Amino acid sequence: MALVAILPHCSIDCKNTETARMEMISFDTIFKNATLVNHDGEFRGDIGIRDGLIAAIGDLTEGGKTPAAAETVDCTGLHVLPGVIDTQVHFREPGLEHKENLQTGSLGAVMGGVTGVFEMPNTNPLTIDEETFLDKIARATNSMHCDFAFYAGGTHDNVAQLARLERLPGCAGIKVFMGSSTGSLLVSDDDGVRAILDAVSRRVAFHSEDEYLLEDQKHLRVMNDPSSHPAWRDVNVALRSTKRLVGLARETGASIHVLHVSTGEEMEFLSRHKDIASVEVTPHHLTLDAGDYQRLGTLLQMNPPVRDISHRKRLWHGVAGGVADILGSDHAPHTLEEKSAPYPDSPSGMTGVQTLVPVMLDHVNAGRLSLQRFVDMTSAGPNRLFGIAGKGRLAVGYDADLTIVDMKRCEIISNGWVASRSGWTPYDGRRVTGWPVGTVIRGNRVMWEGELLKGSSGRPIRFNGALA
Ligand code: DOR
Repeated sequence: MALVAILPHCSIDCKNTETARMEMISFDTIFKNATLVNHDGEFRGDIGIRDGLIAAIGDLTEGGKTPAAAETVDCTGLHVLPGVIDTQVHFREPGLEHKENLQTGSLGAVMGGVTGVFEMPNTNPLTIDEETFLDKIARATNSMHCDFAFYAGGTHDNVAQLARLERLPGCAGIKVFMGSSTGSLLVSDDDGVRAILDAVSRRVAFHSEDEYLLEDQKHLRVMNDPSSHPAWRDVNVALRSTKRLVGLARETGASIHVLHVSTGEEMEFLSRHKDIASVEVTPHHLTLDAGDYQRLGTLLQMNPPVRDISHRKRLWHGVAGGVADILGSDHAPHTLEEKSAPYPDSPSGMTGVQTLVPVMLDHVNAGRLSLQRFVDMTSAGPNRLFGIAGKGRLAVGYDADLTIVDMKRCEIISNGWVASRSGWTPYDGRRVTGWPVGTVIRGNRVMWEGELLKGSSGRPIRFNGALA
């Protein structure tokens, strides 16, 4: 057995080394002959799984034989990545289940190769206190296909509760809307944001758009013309808010996470504040541009908006330069009927959790980022920024969460493939190269070759420092 790291099955009980060896080389599942990819490198090898954890990584064959396992899966030609964690999704339950619910949203996740999600608090009721937070955990535990964490929303009125809320098991942290979007969460003023940053110790996630400018510029919206969305919610709206936010974070000593950065200007500004600010980019801002409003109309309407191609290029520059830390889909479903309302009465948001992996693998194949950088932004990055325990890399002792992909497979993304209750994707008809063929969560093959193999068994993601 060469080049192999092993998690001992029995460390003190074993009477002799031969027994220990026999014990050590039995696994529940072995994924064999894969290219294993971490954020810092890749190599050919096998992964042995026992009790839901990665128990061994390396060349597990000995004398030409694979060790005993209940199941051995040949992954020749496939890449095995640490499970993709989508750190920004809106699954709409409770209250908006006609658009999505925790079951359908998470079904989309696993069909698209995503093993864990952070879900947002702009549901109805809002997730802003212990009762609403625990209600979501209870609903998810019975229905979600992937592992999950929930954000708690920061408001003017719940500041005193935030320090406890952010440490509840399954809490991804606190999310603040500085500009209004779907739902009623809003803390637009500096005093309100400062109070929240003062109250918490974990990294706080922000929807950063300046509400005052949004109000002032409402006249820039052109009836029935969604291409005026980026004129209303323009660069200044985003940049002014992000500058205010960084100033407040410096003043309070807080760490901030700027969600869905959409402008070249913010990317450049944030590159000078990486000591306190982490940066999320989304597949839609990296893939689509203002030229697509004509084709997609309100389906492209999103907050912050998809902008002209120069911003897209500068966002890629931020990916290449390491300024962007994380890829989140901002999966924000609305029904096609809701989307058919005339702009600006149409809601902002599009689906994305199921298309994140294939759309980004296509970018990998096009040479825009490496597969290792993709892993950095979807597994290692979430682990590092949010203090996730036991997920985010292929390592012995970590949860056996795997996203298994075929980098050569060509597929056409279609509305029919999308599991979201809303039933549509802005990428309908798009041909991509690179496809998720397996989703493994804590050792269980949940999705394989497009088939759901296991019922809902999602569990809360664990975080360092959470309350017991
Ligand atoms: O376009 C958006 N839609 N942006 C957000 O930040 C919220 C989201 C939603 O919940 O619909």
